[in-house]
Amino acid sequence: MTGQADESRIVKVMSGSPGLGSSPREPPGNRLDLRPLAAASGTSDVDFGVDAGPLDLAHLSDEEFSALERAVLEHLVVVVRGQEGLSPRAQFELTRRFDPQVKAYGHGNRPDILKQSVLVQDLVAIPDVPQVKLLGNGRVKDHEGIPDVELHHPSHRAFHLTPLGDGQEAAGLTRFYRWHIDAALYELHPPKVTTLLALAVPEPRRETVVYDDGSGDSLDVTLGTTAFVSGAKAFDLLSPAQRAFALKTTARYAPHPYVWMRNARARSNGLGLVSEGRELGRDELPPFEDDKITRLPLVWTNPLTGRRSLQLHAYCVEDLLVDGEALGELAECRRILYDLMRPAIAPSHVYAHTWRPGDLVIFNNRGLWHSVVGSLRPAEQRVYHQCNLAASEAPLGP
Ligand SMILES: [Fe+2]
Repeated sequence: MTGQADESRIVKVMSGSPGLGSSPREPPGNRLDLRPLAAASGTSDVDFGVDAGPLDLAHLSDEEFSALERAVLEHLVVVVRGQEGLSPRAQFELTRRFDPQVKAYGHGNRPDILKQSVLVQDLVAIPDVPQVKLLGNGRVKDHEGIPDVELHHPSHRAFHLTPLGDGQEAAGLTRFYRWHIDAALYELHPPKVTTLLALAVPEPRRETVVYDDGSGDSLDVTLGTTAFVSGAKAFDLLSPAQRAFALKTTARYAPHPYVWMRNARARSNGLGLVSEGRELGRDELPPFEDDKITRLPLVWTNPLTGRRSLQLHAYCVEDLLVDGEALGELAECRRILYDLMRPAIAPSHVYAHTWRPGDLVIFNNRGLWHSVVGSLRPAEQRVYHQCNLAASEAPLGP
């Protein structure tokens, strides 16, 4: 994909439905013109992501919503601009249309578990619509029923085994925080989509993501970007032997995985944990039931396109079942998963979104991995609303 939206690929999925008072010069209703997103760099071969709209997301007809849903399944990332007026309630209702039977937040709503997990510091529930979370950086006052809160952008320095130093961050270097899918991975099914709405973004200074994994790789991004890679591309990049392995392997996730791994530290490129024996023992975890432990195939099938994706949350995997047989060695499981996943995060495969206020990104959580990125200073304000819902069904296997 080139750095410019490719006009020749603009697809008009719909135009305004004729209604009372419509005029041929100014069609009413929503439009889902899809334009490929500008790539992060001239060398990018990112093959997913579209800009869509203009859309009034709070008032989509069933037909319009179906077209949007197909776009999310096919293009994985759909950006709708100008949504700063979308209320938390409307964002929740939009997210729910992708899976109408569900209501619970993707990580559930048990405060006792969330309080002990690595996720707690990042998310504040909107009081009236607790499935929508406030996240970002800096002080926020009188916001959607939240009187006063100090938000903290996740810093890799609290999480990576060998973080950058002050001088490196001051010089504009940063890291991928954690490549992941959004999922509780205990008791609840992984959400189908996540919606992320930018209300305030920091001044768009440039930063350089350094991988620090021996490859020499780096990626130039805008401060506070969110990075995405395609699970289908990850699957395509596997060797024939790796593909055969992935197709017969199931990940067994730890019970309450975000509590289990809360003391562990990550690799410098954000792609999984270093094995130092820091995971909590079974007796240190909150109570759990064996039948609620999550087992998911490594390869998921896109229900619309039939494309296969390598989809997993490597941080939360406790064991791999190969042809039903457990490997039983955590460090070895991580080494295997790292080798499967690393080619997909090469700089040319990463789409790093440059946020503008009002951007609503809807992403296919069952076809992508994503990462928080950036080293924000306390005064650099970032205010977002995020919503995803634990799905009504498990992902489709290979
Ligand atoms: Fe996420």
